[in-house]
Amino acid sequence: MSAEEAIKLIHSGDRVALAHAVGIPVVITDALCEHKDNYENVEIVQLVPMGNAKFTDPEMEGHFRLNALFLGPFTRDAVQEGRGDFTPCCFHEVPNLFDEILPLDVAVIQVTPPDKHGYVSCGVSVDYTLPAAQKAKRVIAQVNKEMPRTHGDTVLHVSEIDSFVEADHPIIELGLPRIGKVERAIGENCAKLIKDGDTLQLGIGAIPDAVLLFLKDKKDLGIHSEMVSDGVVKLIESGVITNAKKNLHPGKTVATFLMGTKDLYDYADDNQAVVMYPVDYVNDPYVIGQNNNLVSINSCIQVDLTGQVASESVGYQQISGIGGQVDFVRGAKLSKGGRSIIAIGSTAAQGKISKIVPILDEGAAVTTSRTDVDYIVTEYGIAHLQGKSLRDRAKALIQIAHPDFRKGLIQVYEQRFHCNYN
Ligand code: COA
Repeated sequence: MSAEEAIKLIHSGDRVALAHAVGIPVVITDALCEHKDNYENVEIVQLVPMGNAKFTDPEMEGHFRLNALFLGPFTRDAVQEGRGDFTPCCFHEVPNLFDEILPLDVAVIQVTPPDKHGYVSCGVSVDYTLPAAQKAKRVIAQVNKEMPRTHGDTVLHVSEIDSFVEADHPIIELGLPRIGKVERAIGENCAKLIKDGDTLQLGIGAIPDAVLLFLKDKKDLGIHSEMVSDGVVKLIESGVITNAKKNLHPGKTVATFLMGTKDLYDYADDNQAVVMYPVDYVNDPYVIGQNNNLVSINSCIQVDLTGQVASESVGYQQISGIGGQVDFVRGAKLSKGGRSIIAIGSTAAQGKISKIVPILDEGAAVTTSRTDVDYIVTEYGIAHLQGKSLRDRAKALIQIAHPDFRKGLIQVYEQRFHCNYN
């Protein structure tokens, strides 16, 4: 049916889960926005929309309200300006929220055309998208021939879907990040912590991609990651990533969503070497921890001298979310030989602000606690915090802070610990 017809399954007051990231069903969300006047107080639950988030525009107020489980560039303003809400949660917990705490009226997803047995694949976004469709009372699916058919646990049967909207268009692509001098130095430092045979989780952006640049000489790396992007494919094709040493899913790259260019989507299409599962499996710390030597690499906004990691807000301003950071930091802790890395540039705002600070900004949320934190890496080196006293942590962090800020941090250190720094 047409998108206009399909959205009649959504009613005022409904809670609607919208597929994640580049899996967002653009044609159906556009139709919803065009017909906004037919709706009042529809709650839209989502992590990150890619492309746009028109449903959060000011003129949508009263019609749609975002309940964001993570914030991205398109949704920050809505929450900042009071037109949407942010709900803190770990990524792996999202499907469970849909059981009793946030029961869903409708799931709006994007899928492949059915195979000969009537199964459609959620393709690039399996994460909470497949569980949402399995749990919602009604399901609307955009069927897109361009959606890659991914393997693992990614499918629904057509009998589980109420309305289909056929609309083909390329899956949203994300350009490759610009990797500068600072990112290269951080990447090189992170790579020093990665050994042959390790299984990796990498976040998104320039730093994780820079890490991949320095792994070309490693052997038998594996991937168990919430997200997979283009850099991973290059290392698979060059034989660095073989997944041969993984305890769980040996020989397979494991992910819960994909985000990158068409090259990545083409690689994953009908490829048995890439398996995707819902996020309550991939990001479950107990599942992550079943891989020996699991190394997670994520980023943050600020870290204080005791090792508290703020990754989601700049002071009171929520700019991001928890995502899979805590899932993987804890999973790495459960993994025999596991390590977790928080990798950051030492400064923000063109060098005006240090990311290593005496205390977090007022209002900043602690994402990774100082008891869970393991390695912090900047372009200036590596600080290993696990098992270190507050005094030794502070010293290790000052050593990897930007030189322009070290003097000020040393003064704080000497006052706080009543001793000389040297
Ligand atoms: N003080 C003030 N502003 C800061 C800051 C600081 N210490 N650190 C970053 N910022 C600002 C940047 O200037 C930028 O602002 P802009 O968008 O207006 O330019 C914004 O915050 C984002 O920072 P940036 O360094 O560009 O972000 P990034 O793309 O490298 O992502 C995180 C960094 C922390 C936001 C991101 O890694 C994240 O969301 N992490 C938490 C979730 C997670 O780890 N998930 C698991 C893997 S997907």
